[in-house]
Amino acid sequence: MERTFAIIKPDAVAAGSAGQILSIIEKQGFRILGMKMLRMRREQAEGFYAVHKARPFFAGLVAFMTEGPVVVLALEREDAILKWREVMGATNPANAAEGTIRRQFATDIERNAVHGSDAPETAAAEIPFFFSTSELL
Ligand code: RTP
Ligand code: MG
Repeated sequence: MERTFAIIKPDAVAAGSAGQILSIIEKQGFRILGMKMLRMRREQAEGFYAVHKARPFFAGLVAFMTEGPVVVLALEREDAILKWREVMGATNPANAAEGTIRRQFATDIERNAVHGSDAPETAAAEIPFFFSTSELL
């Protein structure tokens, strides 16, 4: 069993798509270990995406991630990290495969509905960024 971290981003929550995305997560065999809705503060978004600090899209990304509520999730499944990346689809929805969440719910390369950890070390850092041990059930 492996754990990964997911976010239903502000665009998808505002569009009323959180329920449909959670349903996909459950149907794909992920167990939800932790889930909460929150609005990220600027420093929180900057810290979470610190790896992208030097990128030209960083300021836009932080503005987007703080514009409204998100749903953060700790998920468990066999091969959870790779499987969730597969279910999400490519970063740019124009390149996302048919049936993926981003193909279905994303607007563009920035407003792309969901986040997923990209490696075991990332998941191990991202889960405790939002959840304490006692919040993982
Ligand atoms: P994520 O981290 O959110 O799961 O997305 P990802 O791995 O597929 O993509 P990544 O390269 O890590 O980029 C993080 C997020 O930044 C926004 N982005 N905007 N305007 C742009 O060119 C651009 N590129 C990336 C997206 O919201 C992307 O998911
Ligand atoms: Mg990423």
